[in-house]
Amino acid sequence: MASKILVLGNVNCALQEVFTKIAKLQAKQNFAFAIVVGDLFGESTSEEELSQISALLAGNISVPLPTYFSVGRYPIPTRVVEKIQADDEVCPNLYFIGRRGTLKTFEGIRIATLGGEVATDGQQDPNINNRYHSRYTDSDARSLYGVHDADILVTYEWPKGVTGRSKVSLPEDKAVPEGAQCVADVCSTLKPRYHFSSKAEFFYEREPFFHLPTEGNPDEKPVTRFINMASYGKAKGQKWMYAFTFDPKAPVPSSIPAGATASPLATVSRKRAALESQNEGFHRFSRGNNERPQKRARRPPPGPGECFFCLSNPDIATHLITSIGNDAYLTTAKGPLTKSDSYPSLRFPGHMLIIPFIHAPTFSAITEPDARQSTYNEMQRYRVALNDMAREKAQNKLGSVTWEVSRGNGIHVHWQYLPVASDLVAKGLVEAAFKVEGENLDYPKFKPSAGDDGASEVGDYFRVWIWQPASSNSEQQTESKKGSEKVLVLPLTPDFRFDLQFGRKVMAKLLQLEKRMDWRECAQTMEEEVADVEAFKVAFKEFDFSLEEE
Ligand SMILES: *[C@@H]1O[C@H](CO)[C@@H](O)[C@H](O)[C@H]1NC(C)=O
Ligand SMILES: [Zn+2]
Repeated sequence: MASKILVLGNVNCALQEVFTKIAKLQAKQNFAFAIVVGDLFGESTSEEELSQISALLAGNISVPLPTYFSVGRYPIPTRVVEKIQADDEVCPNLYFIGRRGTLKTFEGIRIATLGGEVATDGQQDPNINNRYHSRYTDSDARSLYGVHDADILVTYEWPKGVTGRSKVSLPEDKAVPEGAQCVADVCSTLKPRYHFSSKAEFFYEREPFFHLPTEGNPDEKPVTRFINMASYGKAKGQKWMYAFTFDPKAPVPSSIPAGATASPLATVSRKRAALESQNEGFHRFSRGNNERPQKRARRPPPGPGECFFCLSNPDIATHLITSIGNDAYLTTAKGPLTKSDSYPSLRFPGHMLIIPFIHAPTFSAITEPDARQSTYNEMQRYRVALNDMAREKAQNKLGSVTWEVSRGNGIHVHWQYLPVASDLVAKGLVEAAFKVEGENLDYPKFKPSAGDDGASEVGDYFRVWIWQPASSNSEQQTESKKGSEKVLVLPLTPDFRFDLQFGRKVMAKLLQLEKRMDWRECAQTMEEEVADVEAFKVAFKEFDFSLEEE
């Protein structure tokens, strides 16, 4: 069914006036919900603004319909943050989606938000991982690719290049935002039907533009309408409200509307997240709350929205992400087994996670064979790139161990990667450590991998790749100079009580890091995490294939 939707520009704390106007309108129009683009509260420093916030929090201002908001130029005021954290809502009907967030409304309309401005010096900003803050990093923006598509995209910034190919005139006396490339990339990836911003002080509606068809949907040219909302009360005669009707179930129109242009945004097709129907990235609010209208309070089953390996989860620690490919991404491990000084040739722990975009517990659960293969291939590509880095930085003194727990009742398959002294591998000590610990625990015996095609290993299993570089004085061919490796698989049955920390425990014992066996006891401060990520990125830069394809 089609819904009527109301969009508002920056409200800048004129709460009583704006919600009174909306209430009058709502009585006649019956909108499904409203979205505030940009600043609901604004700078909120004046006496009047502060009393407006008090009145709202005291329940003296009523919000007439479900209203969603993100961040604009200013962070969310502390008092409001505290209220959201306590109750999940600012007041009845007023919900914060998050600086970076996704939401599926009761009507089934998918909204994605990226509020605030891009920080070029993000790692120096102590608040950069705070979801109420008004600045975000490139990785934050990129992590939205994982949601695949959206009906409505709300960003404060303009997408870079959006005025290109357009005949719509721009005001001469007002600043036109320069636009951010990462916002353009998010728009090109999500291909929303509507994209709203509010950084410019004037109302601007560009001609609709269409995106090029993709391999998966060769017949579709999705159309985006980009609109900048004026601020309430600032510029006379400028539109700060916009109403439209939208039916999320209606088929995408096959014809392009008159006057539409090709997308003016530089394309990022290589960076598209793998399309997978099971990766439904949107979720309703994850924490239940009784005060919310009944129909909104239903809890969703645990899915990508709550999965800490899914890029679409707004709560994942994006500051740990070090590289994003087409089908998989790389992060440093939280609570790494090794320490920053474990390997002097690296100066960072080197304990990494290689994680596919697709939310699936095992490779065999990825039903689409092409997606399964390309995901597996890119994860291998990351592993090989990490090996190349280890070999070069340590001049053949470091090999690596990579392990995977594949269980049908697991959540999101991933690999853990750990550098290890190459002489431990060469002496067979790594292989022996896994086998002995498995025997101690009465686990089934390790067997060599079934075949060349690692993507189609079936059943439940624990798998480990043990790699060593060729010795430096080797006169062999380039290919074998890269080293040699062994793949071992420990088959499991679905009801087998397998210790998910098995791989980490084996390596902790072997490396005499028993005290660091439990990752929760190896917590680092945010500064330490960021320092390790930065050191890793510098070392990995020349091996990171995802950078070449920009
Ligand atoms: C809320 O309204 C009541 C009743 O009109 C008034 O006494 C109170 O001061 C108001 N509170 C705020 C914070 O505006
Ligand atoms: Zn997931």
